[in-house]
Amino acid sequence: MAKRTIVALPGDGIGAVVLKEAVRVLDAAGFNADYVYGDIGWDFWCKEGNPLPQRTIDLIAKHKIALFGAITSKPKDEAAAELSPALQGKGFSYSSPIVGLRQHFGLDICVRPCRSYKGNPLNFIRRGKDGNPEEPMVDVVIFRQNTEGLYGGVEWSNPPQQVYDALMTHPKFRENFGWCPKEELAVSTRILTLKYTERIIRAAFVHAVKYGYKSVTVCEKPNVIRETSGLMWKVAKDIQKNAFPAIQLHNTNIDAQMMWLTKNPEDYGVIVASNMFGDIASDAFAGLIGGLGFACSAQFSEDGIGVFEPTHGSAPKYAGYSIPIINPIAMIESACMMLEYIDEKNIAARIRKAIAGVIEEGKVRTYDMMKLSGKPEVVTMGAASTIQMTDAIIARLK
Ligand code: NAI
Ligand code: MG
Repeated sequence: MAKRTIVALPGDGIGAVVLKEAVRVLDAAGFNADYVYGDIGWDFWCKEGNPLPQRTIDLIAKHKIALFGAITSKPKDEAAAELSPALQGKGFSYSSPIVGLRQHFGLDICVRPCRSYKGNPLNFIRRGKDGNPEEPMVDVVIFRQNTEGLYGGVEWSNPPQQVYDALMTHPKFRENFGWCPKEELAVSTRILTLKYTERIIRAAFVHAVKYGYKSVTVCEKPNVIRETSGLMWKVAKDIQKNAFPAIQLHNTNIDAQMMWLTKNPEDYGVIVASNMFGDIASDAFAGLIGGLGFACSAQFSEDGIGVFEPTHGSAPKYAGYSIPIINPIAMIESACMMLEYIDEKNIAARIRKAIAGVIEEGKVRTYDMMKLSGKPEVVTMGAASTIQMTDAIIARLK
């Protein structure tokens, strides 16, 4: 096996804690790699006025594969106040380095698997037909368009005159919003392009075929958001008909999906959605499989760059604990997604099997799995520390 170089981006808070554990697991599983560490996050904002320095962008461009912990983000005013005094008033403006990474590299495809582990005490439970509790096994993968739509950043308060004039050409705008003074308007656009809509939908179908899912569900709202959700649905129908006739295609509205997911989560396989709806659907499904301690993700670009990260944030309060208590599984699962992406499927499968074994045995559980609130004392109440959880996973690799 050729040696890989992986860019490790610890970031802030617990990001650095969990990344270290993921690297321990990768090493123990025999993954042959060098890690080059990249600077990203709050410290670099404060010290340099840039949370995503050019040298980090260069590292990712060179090596193409990055494992990312999490960063801390704060609102603009707070960010400005924490900038080092030497940099204040020099025109630095904070923006999220994650969004920066997505935009810079065009990481348009975001994949968020939500799979239940047998024996996870956080698994969703419902009442069955006979009145008894039953635990449906969830195995859903959300494909979220990651660069466009409502998070595309094209928005205004008090829009420029040309924008206002253009909006006034639309009869619905004139009728429903024409009464409002321009200064009192806030507008966020939802822009979709055919190219990136096709890419996310095709990626969803390819994944369904590769991993044996029976269906792809488009989760949008085409009956109301006719142009953009309508485009998603039309493209999905075309792609299914022309290239993937063996995969079933379903259509759910995002609101209804939020209701259906607690009724019959086992009915869904691959779900594809635009940016915000994918964000919502993936958080909602993650809640059924254990929440932030289990929610992993990957982001890919057209030219093969892959960034793999847990969906949780930096949980700054937990970073200062002398014994770390947060669950490393979301980060370790994200590392497994990286392994699959670079064709190290056997190592990924061994790690996943080890995680499954630890969870099913039920002896080693982090505080979230014991439904405790995240205080440092949890380790005296029987909760495994972050390190003990990682050790238990590593022990099962042998
Ligand atoms: P968060 O995800 O950092 O933490 C929320 C809560 O979830 C924690 O207090 C903890 O109770 C629980 N939690 C998170 N990760 C866990 C784990 N691995 N195991 C067990 N429990 C876990 O979100 P929060 O508190 O809203 O944001 C903190 C900072 O992180 C903010 O600055 C925010 O902007 C940033 N953030 C960064 C993200 C990223 O780097 N991808 C994503 C979300 C938030
Ligand atoms: Mg989210």
